[in-house]
Amino acid sequence: MTTSNIPWTINILTLFPEMFPGALNYSLVGKAMAKNLWQLNPINIRDFATDAHKSVDDTPFGGGAGMVLKADVLDAAYQSLGPDQVFPTYYLSPRGKPLTQETVQKLSTAPGLNLLCGRYEGVDERFLQKRGIEELSIGDYILSGGELAAMVLIDACLRLRPGILGKEASFQDESFCKGLLEYPHYTRPQVWEGEVVPEVLVSGHHARICQWRQEMAEKMTEMRRPDLWMLYKKKED
Ligand code: ADE
Repeated sequence: MTTSNIPWTINILTLFPEMFPGALNYSLVGKAMAKNLWQLNPINIRDFATDAHKSVDDTPFGGGAGMVLKADVLDAAYQSLGPDQVFPTYYLSPRGKPLTQETVQKLSTAPGLNLLCGRYEGVDERFLQKRGIEELSIGDYILSGGELAAMVLIDACLRLRPGILGKEASFQDESFCKGLLEYPHYTRPQVWEGEVVPEVLVSGHHARICQWRQEMAEKMTEMRRPDLWMLYKKKED
């Protein structure tokens, strides 16, 4: 088997392995999984609990609400990954570095990924420190666990992998690649509820269309995302 025949592998450490593949079983990424371009390996953290009750968590030292996933159980699950699964490992957490398209691009070129999904209050800090596990957040809001965040991350990476999106061009043109939001799109009918498609788009004049799209992308970014607009202007100068 050549390297290119080995599916891109994502190991997921989770208390809810049955949540996977979930949404990732559909559309282009689902088809790509059926074609063996990538594979998911959910690992149930509870399988590595050692006591009679199969406990995976305990109360936090210092008191307070919630439960904390135990370092010893987490590590047993993590160490169960074989020596051929030494991939970049991330813990999905609202405390993590915000996930950006730039990070997604980097992760999509890794040989594979190991993702840890937390539940409850969090995980024992010593496990993250000892194993050098970085944290990633998909946004400034709190989900009830890392599983949905892992799916977001996986989907974003997969669509950048070779053979998954139909046309390479369809993502090159998109928001965030050039630091701008996408221009508006229109399709038939040309008039809908009295609203007419911008004239330039039916002109057949390629250069004018390009210029219009660029202007619209800039306008939308300036209006909706002043933070991105500032970065874009800085890069242009
Ligand atoms: N787990 C809970 N909330 C999260 C978030 N916003 N991003 C990543 N993982 C999470």
